[in-house]
Amino acid sequence: MSAQTPVISSDLIPAALTPVIEALCAVSVDVAAVIARGPLGQSLGSLVGENTDGDSQKALDVLCDEMFAAELKKTDVRFYASEEQEEVVTLNPNGKYALAIDPLDGSSNIDVNVSIGTIFSIFEAKEGDKESFLRPANEQLAGGYVVYGPQTSLVVTFGNGTLMFVLDPADKTFKLVNDKVMVPATSKEFAINASNYRHWTKPVRAYIADCLAGQEGPRDKDFNMRWVGSLVAETHRILTRGGIFLYPGDSRKGYESGRLRMIYECAPIAFLIEQAGGVATDGADPIMGQQADSLHARIPLVFGSAEKVNRVAAYHDLPEQEVSALFGDRGLFRG
Ligand code: F6P
Repeated sequence: MSAQTPVISSDLIPAALTPVIEALCAVSVDVAAVIARGPLGQSLGSLVGENTDGDSQKALDVLCDEMFAAELKKTDVRFYASEEQEEVVTLNPNGKYALAIDPLDGSSNIDVNVSIGTIFSIFEAKEGDKESFLRPANEQLAGGYVVYGPQTSLVVTFGNGTLMFVLDPADKTFKLVNDKVMVPATSKEFAINASNYRHWTKPVRAYIADCLAGQEGPRDKDFNMRWVGSLVAETHRILTRGGIFLYPGDSRKGYESGRLRMIYECAPIAFLIEQAGGVATDGADPIMGQQADSLHARIPLVFGSAEKVNRVAAYHDLPEQEVSALFGDRGLFRG
């Protein structure tokens, strides 16, 4: 790319954060190219180890982490917290920002040519490295993701609405396609890993049972289910055509607070969704009012169209006999 052509340019990006966003975009152009070559390039999906939480690390996870860290080091990012690294890394000791990142989300989809992505969150740096991240989600300056799919898109918020850019392969720059992304209020789609049904709590089982019961149940309408297995792809679908996503806590060991990480997955997604008029909770309370107590802490995540997410919270308030009842007998939500 020529020095004159910025990888992204929009006056909706705050000037102080522009170099950081440009660095993220420049790396994601390269990441998109590596992904697009798939098996023609290096073996991206091969296992190379485990991260701090015992999740398997693929070659592409590690490669992306190194690529983002190297580029962000040239910017005002002081602290870098990555899913792939146990501790916070200092990049630029004089920098003003703390950036959390899941360099490659959805890595189980690398080898099967399904959308994957990068999720990031930016705070103002504090004196302490960990303290810069262990703080309420509503202190984020920016939250966003890049999805590597049929199109490579950047979706980002700076707290003033949600913006969507698409990478133009012709000149390798991100172009603004929507300056006011809004989660559609109505949709018949829900997304959850239904194979965990037996591990869920009663309110979650009751909510999903009522969706599955369709027209014959208390919801009185038919639903459709989607599960990609990539958080970025599910988020992109919901931002585009509505619906609800749930990764609740469940009774499996290690899944008591769900699977997704607060700092570099749930907080930025919640920020994007709320700025697009949707709602994001842990099943009951807003994610944006909460904070992690450790760098890689997990939290249950429910987000999407406001009415749907609020309904899940209402199931958590139902009396025991109502959530235990078969859908046909659950009276409160009928009609
Ligand atoms: O955090 C990793 C992730 O791959 C998300 O992108 C996705 O939503 C979730 O895990 C899928 O989890 P599971 O394999 O339990 O359905």
